[in-house]
Amino acid sequence: MSDRIKQLIENNKEWSKQFAEKNPGIFDKLAKLQNPNYLWIGCSDSRVPANTIVGLQPGEVFVHRNIANQVNHSDLNVLSVLEYAVNVLQVNDIILCGHYNCGGVKAAMENTEHGIVDHWLRSIKDVYQGNLDEINQCSSEDDKFNLLCELNVKQQVSNICYTTIVQRAWKRGQQLSVHGLIYGLADGLLKDLEVTTNSVNQLENIYQL
Ligand code: CO
Repeated sequence: MSDRIKQLIENNKEWSKQFAEKNPGIFDKLAKLQNPNYLWIGCSDSRVPANTIVGLQPGEVFVHRNIANQVNHSDLNVLSVLEYAVNVLQVNDIILCGHYNCGGVKAAMENTEHGIVDHWLRSIKDVYQGNLDEINQCSSEDDKFNLLCELNVKQQVSNICYTTIVQRAWKRGQQLSVHGLIYGLADGLLKDLEVTTNSVNQLENIYQL
């Protein structure tokens, strides 16, 4: 085993000891079930670790991360996570968390080829094109970039709400809110983009099922 992995195993030993000391019986409890209140869908970026930035412990948040926090209606991975979180874990809050300076969003703004990821990021180009008027009002490239990071979050919040999974939950009266947050790498702070959606009536008519 490499020294780097050995170090991680050592870190883990120390962490598990301290966590158990602070929370007597916690591992017995966690081994039996998970009962998180939140589903977090965020970017894979190493600087945006879900549990850490919102101060949650193991067992408190169900997490899905991918490049540029995408929720595509043909992605079995995110849909399976969403289905399990809503139907089985019955979370009450879904947090779609993006971040400023997102490399995925940046790549989508460029006119260069990056590889397979260009297919993954194509829908961000659609968000750009669909909001061209607002984006062109920005006075600098940085402002455009920041705005697109925010618009991407808002689009993914909508995409979550457009799913049959979320709309069926609302239909059966399940309390379920979908929130759009964005994280600043430079200050470590989360901002609420105030697009919280908790009923089918908040969706554009064509997306209501
Ligand atoms: Co990112």
